[in-house]
Amino acid sequence: MSTRASSIPKRWKPRWVLITGSSQGLGKSLAFACAREGFSLILAARRQEILEAVSQEITNQYQVSVHTIMADLSTPEGVDTLWQWCKRQQIWPDILINNAGRGLFGCFEDQPERDLHHLLYLNMESLTLLCHRFGPKMMENHGIIVNVSSLVGLIPTPYFSVYSATKSYVLHFSRALAREWKHKGISVCCLVPGYMRTGFDTNAAIENSSYLQVSRSLGKDPDKVANYALPRILKRKTIIYASTGDTWLALFLGLVPVSLRSLIAKIFLKRFAEKTS
Ligand SMILES: NC(=O)c1ccc[n+]([C@@H]2O[C@H](COP(=O)([O-])OP(=O)(O)OC[C@H]3O[C@@H](n4cnc5c(N)ncnc54)[C@H](OP(=O)(O)O)[C@@H]3O)[C@@H](O)[C@H]2O)c1
Repeated sequence: MSTRASSIPKRWKPRWVLITGSSQGLGKSLAFACAREGFSLILAARRQEILEAVSQEITNQYQVSVHTIMADLSTPEGVDTLWQWCKRQQIWPDILINNAGRGLFGCFEDQPERDLHHLLYLNMESLTLLCHRFGPKMMENHGIIVNVSSLVGLIPTPYFSVYSATKSYVLHFSRALAREWKHKGISVCCLVPGYMRTGFDTNAAIENSSYLQVSRSLGKDPDKVANYALPRILKRKTIIYASTGDTWLALFLGLVPVSLRSLIAKIFLKRFAEKTS
């Protein structure tokens, strides 16, 4: 489904793209894909020195401006840091990519409360508040907001129960907001990748070597995902899967009852979760 509103100029081109979680993984790949198109960047994550290195790598290759912002988006201050920076610099993103996110794998009862809190805040609250803060400003310039969900958002996934629920939230929230804002000069897209070979497994506390083997063999290269997604983002597609295969998989999942999706996920993941717990 395309959300291009008739008021958006045909030659609309973003100048600034703000990407959260761009020090590595998919966020970094999206940063390179945007730089290749000539878009200037605002990169945000917690590790400033890594962001600086990414910025250097990009400016060595492309003639774009890159700013970096250190912000921990698992805290309320993180959102404010990004907002205040843009306000101070008077640089407003034309595209905001809410990519920062983390997973948490294992038996729910063993997951530390602190990690659950961080996960919920980062994956849902920060993303929601960034849409709320930046959305009205971005309406002035026909902006695009991209929220990164996951294929597990389509499956209530045992041992990834909280993570999959947060990604389901991102999917539903983005769809709803896309519709609500359809004629307000702003588009909302939801990028829904499957497994990618990034730092995700390490950050999700996955140590089981058999699981890591499976996820790495199934995982896509994040550069390929970014290159596939960017043209679709610029076309303002509401839901963007990471490949044609993923689109078919999502369609197929839609035909399978939710309880069966969840049962199959449990059968697949149980052995890995029980070994790691
Ligand atoms: N990899 C997969 O298989 C997969 C599949 C589907 C969806 N996704 C989603 O894709 C997105 C990107 O994940 P990835 O695979 O690229 O993972 P990744 O390699 O772990 O990268 C995560 C990025 O988010 C940043 N980040 C983490 N916690 C943060 C915080 N509290 N505040 C600000 N930034 C933070 C990290 O930078 P710092 O550590 O420097 O803060 C890093 O740049 C996530 O939303 C994830 O849920 C991943």
